[in-house]
Amino acid sequence: MAGTPKKTNISRRGFLSSAVAGSAALVAGSNPLQAANPENMAPNVPDWSRYLGAGVAEQPYGMPSEFEKQVIRRNVPWLTASTESSVSFTPIHELDGIITPNGVCFERHHAGIAMVDPADHRLMINGLVDKPMMFTMEDLKRFPRVNKIFFLECAANSGMEWRGAQLNGCQFTQGMVHCVEYTGVPLKYILEEAGVKTNAKWLMPEGADAAAMNRSLPLEKALDDCLVAFKMNGEALRPEQGYPLRLVVPGWEGNLWIKWLRRIEVGDMPWQAREETSKYTDLMEDGTSRRFTWVMDAKSVITSPSPQAPITHKKGHTVISGLAWSGRGLIDYVDITLDGGKNWRRARIDGLRLPKALHRFYYEFDWDGSPLLLQSRAVDETGYVQPTKDELRTVRGTSSIYHNNGIQTWHVQENGQVENVEIS
Ligand code: CO
Repeated sequence: MAGTPKKTNISRRGFLSSAVAGSAALVAGSNPLQAANPENMAPNVPDWSRYLGAGVAEQPYGMPSEFEKQVIRRNVPWLTASTESSVSFTPIHELDGIITPNGVCFERHHAGIAMVDPADHRLMINGLVDKPMMFTMEDLKRFPRVNKIFFLECAANSGMEWRGAQLNGCQFTQGMVHCVEYTGVPLKYILEEAGVKTNAKWLMPEGADAAAMNRSLPLEKALDDCLVAFKMNGEALRPEQGYPLRLVVPGWEGNLWIKWLRRIEVGDMPWQAREETSKYTDLMEDGTSRRFTWVMDAKSVITSPSPQAPITHKKGHTVISGLAWSGRGLIDYVDITLDGGKNWRRARIDGLRLPKALHRFYYEFDWDGSPLLLQSRAVDETGYVQPTKDELRTVRGTSSIYHNNGIQTWHVQENGQVENVEIS
């Protein structure tokens, strides 16, 4: 029957749920209904109302409340051989609005976090240019700068879900995404300064980490909307986000957003074409692969309720909250379903609506306490409709890791607990 949850990969998910168990316990422990201490509640006067608190500058750089310590990045230890070439996930189930706080933006490193002294850091422009150039950080701050809010999504986000529902939490299934305000210089200003030769077509941006992480980027995109950014959300980039300088490639997959950016070589062909194996290609069922699939297509996910953010009340007023985004521009609208796709209702997008940025949506309803099959479906301004996972598999098979923007299903049980499932 339609609407009956069909769980796939049960055994693998059992293994995975133990990896996530620690976080689940923290979520339960932070539930105010369970943690409530009658001594602190009216008409009693809690200690925090009776004594002086800490003075100013107790913490010269402020930290979240100790009661928010569950709001952290998490990795999946068995996923990679080492943490230096690995990934941590944004706790999107704990956040609201569209801006990701700097301290919890997901990370992807290929050789660990480079600790770069900005005084010694340079950005070199070489290759097919009239004059090779070397910029200090101070030089870069003398160009006109702009402030732009963009999402950044790893091409491998949701990659572990190609073969079926696996990881029990949207932090792990969709958490390789973040969205911050960047301050930086349009890359075209810097390229204009060096004078790009007429036969130039490609750039190779390169990082100062031990992997010398590099990618091929079409010149056309660089001149369109790419930035060389030094600030995020008003403060310097965090080391794990490329301090002191990173490339911003709006709407395109995260591996192109080279961190610790030290060099941009200008050329006439993609560097990856010179290598035996291309990076970040999408392996198709017939053994061929898609290459240079850069744009992140429209995607959405309900972040609450979700496996790490269960419903903690019995029934009545309930808020569904989620995120939607598209590498092609604005999200036009988001629909949500409570019954696995039988009925769709329009969600309410709230707050800033910016192209190539996260959009926040809500849907408020009175829960009758019966099981739900929650899904969200985003449509972007080009008319592109977020596909189901099965629709994606029909076209692309199950061998790929990348570009899984399929519709996510959460099974809400009567007790409010939520599971990652797939339905057919
Ligand atoms: Co791709």
